Amino acid sequence: MSARESRDERPGPGRRQSLAASDRRPLGTPRPTQPFADRDRAGRTDPGHFERKYRADGDPWGYETKPYEREKYLRTLAAIGPGPFDRALELGCSIGVFTELLARRCHDLLALDAAPTALTRARTRLSHAPHVRFELRDLPWELPQGPFDLIVASELLYYWDAPLLGAALPRLESMLAPGGRFVAVHWRGDVGDGPLDGDKVHVLLRERTTLRHRVNDDTAAYRLDCWELR
Ligand SMILES: C[S@@+](CC[C@H](N)C(=O)[O-])C[C@H]1O[C@@H](n2cnc3c(N)ncnc32)[C@H](O)[C@@H]1O
Repeated sequence: MSARESRDERPGPGRRQSLAASDRRPLGTPRPTQPFADRDRAGRTDPGHFERKYRADGDPWGYETKPYEREKYLRTLAAIGPGPFDRALELGCSIGVFTELLARRCHDLLALDAAPTALTRARTRLSHAPHVRFELRDLPWELPQGPFDLIVASELLYYWDAPLLGAALPRLESMLAPGGRFVAVHWRGDVGDGPLDGDKVHVLLRERTTLRHRVNDDTAAYRLDCWELR
């Protein structure tokens, strides 16, 4: 799939094209999901690990500089589609490099991360974009209220073990608006500091999701899938 970045895809807060009210699941009526137990926090990589990484190196994965990351971001955007998305959610936004690209396709974007230092950098990067909000949250315990037209999980879910990811998936699905998209992209190599790898994450998502599969754009390096709530 080719991925192109378009310069005229800036919906911004002024050019709002809301979904019809009838297309939206009313707030407060999610499908039933299991609560996340506090003891299951052992099933995810400690957020303190990421905070330490950002304090040691402002861009630990080279998101600002590596052509590989740029190419992956563009292909992720292609899988997501042009939007515009009325209400979007990015899980594990890091220092906001992908957030900045995604923001051009969203009227309202909530970006979450558990590392305060990363969020400070992300807020500075997007200080010109009032339709983007950043919040410090430990996921999946502190997932926000839906519905969202788009949820993006890029290089995050292998930091959760299989039971936690299996429990989080129905919750994420319940946060989608009808027609809403869930996009996941994960590196296939050995993450080292997380319990899963990209292949395991995407196999689990494919096996367990109730969403309709829309797009697959795997490469030798990463898995990329987009699903949609029918
Ligand atoms: C490998 S980076 C991916 C960054 C970004 N999504 C991207 O693809 O450019 C993973 C990010 O997830 C965040 N993270 C890890 N565990 C988290 C958790 N339990 N809750 C929220 N954020 C978390 C880390 O702080 C880090 O910024």
